Amino acid sequence: MSKILLKGGTVVSPKGLKKADVLISGEKIVAVGRHIRTDASVVNVSGKLLFPGFIDAHTHFDLEVSDTVTADDFASGTISAIAGGVTTVVDFATQNKGEKLSDALNNWHVKAFAHSSCDYAFHMAISDWREDVRAELEAMFEQGVTSFKVYMIYDAMELSDREIYELMVELKKYGGIVGCHCENSGVIGKLREESVARGDVSPANHPKTRPDYAEAEAVRRFLTIAQAADAPVIVVHLSTAEGYAEVQRARERGVKVFAETCPQYLLLDDSVYDQPFDEASKYICSPPLRKQDDQKVLWQALKNNSLNTISTDHCSFTIEQKRAGTDDFTKIPNGMPGVETRAILMYTYGVRKKRITLQQMCAYLSENPAKLYGMYPKKGAIKVGSDADIVVFEPRGSGTITAAASHSQCGYNPFEGVRREGSIDRVYLRGNMVYSAGEITLLNSGRYVSRKKPMI
Ligand code: URP
Ligand code: ZN
Ligand code: ZN
Repeated sequence: MSKILLKGGTVVSPKGLKKADVLISGEKIVAVGRHIRTDASVVNVSGKLLFPGFIDAHTHFDLEVSDTVTADDFASGTISAIAGGVTTVVDFATQNKGEKLSDALNNWHVKAFAHSSCDYAFHMAISDWREDVRAELEAMFEQGVTSFKVYMIYDAMELSDREIYELMVELKKYGGIVGCHCENSGVIGKLREESVARGDVSPANHPKTRPDYAEAEAVRRFLTIAQAADAPVIVVHLSTAEGYAEVQRARERGVKVFAETCPQYLLLDDSVYDQPFDEASKYICSPPLRKQDDQKVLWQALKNNSLNTISTDHCSFTIEQKRAGTDDFTKIPNGMPGVETRAILMYTYGVRKKRITLQQMCAYLSENPAKLYGMYPKKGAIKVGSDADIVVFEPRGSGTITAAASHSQCGYNPFEGVRREGSIDRVYLRGNMVYSAGEITLLNSGRYVSRKKPMI
């Protein structure tokens, strides 16, 4: 079995920073400490930070939506992931109406198998809650799917409050958890119709028709349903101060709620929509980008450990695909890439700006998602027995984010021209070096991660 000793680095964990060498044997970490006696080949990582491989628990690869399919499939999406230090993605297997969950899961296995360059797991997005779907839940857990997603918006996927309640109650039997896209569908649907009828069809109308209170109302309702069901839940891609206030209120009344945000809600604001179509449409995602005041509240929440994960909602489309909405912003496919830039952005604008610590970065990007999604300590830790998924991070130096250096197939980067501090030097996936000095060094070695119940 091949052995590698990563020597002289600083191991980062949510508990602290420790100068330690890491010995990898085959796919596993077998020792962490100083003065390890071994015949392993030595890789000098002095001056570098060693993070547990990052986990992006919110990606949409190869998703058919808005009469098109995302620009990134599992091949390009997971290449982009490893270039961003992500060794595991949790993608959303998505049930179409009328479909069985087993079919949706099988579809996602076919999409990912043999095409993935990082490890992958699946949440199951439920779009059609039926009695036979309820009966399939146990089989989902047996197959390693222990988290589910529901949408309070989008015609093709929306569930009613009653259906969400029923799902939550059912999941309690198995120890699962449900995440929700929280936006008020009725209000937003009408605002969008009125906007188009008035002739207000440019991308600038996207945030105007998805106001912050429409997120906050849905967060409150989702958490009211969770309270009634007495079930743990996750608010995904939380974007507003108002929505965050509802999360905190629910916690105060005893609801077990976890919350995720994404770099775009921390670093970009809705002024990007006041640009010509091709530029503005890159940023059309839902929920939309918000105000700087929202960003401040979300950063403060991260500082206080009051959010749980930072994911990306990577859901990419080319400019050509976005142009489906040239004459009507409601037809622009929603989403943007992000899996490749999350870590470097959180290091540059979180850690280096002293908004979060290195330890918190490790918690939000590695340990917390591993625990919340039932993969810890196989994933999310540099510990003896864990998978040897390791990001060798170079904190020195700086550069600029560009689409030219990115691996997404969408052809642009929402953070084009943005300064970055540090870089991802090397990435190991289960002991194999998959990325080094800007080059992908091993393709298609990703494997399915069958998950256990959330550790909550
Ligand atoms: O605009 C976005 N975020 N598209 C992806 C689907 C979702 O809502 O998470
Ligand atoms: Zn969503
Ligand atoms: Zn999403």
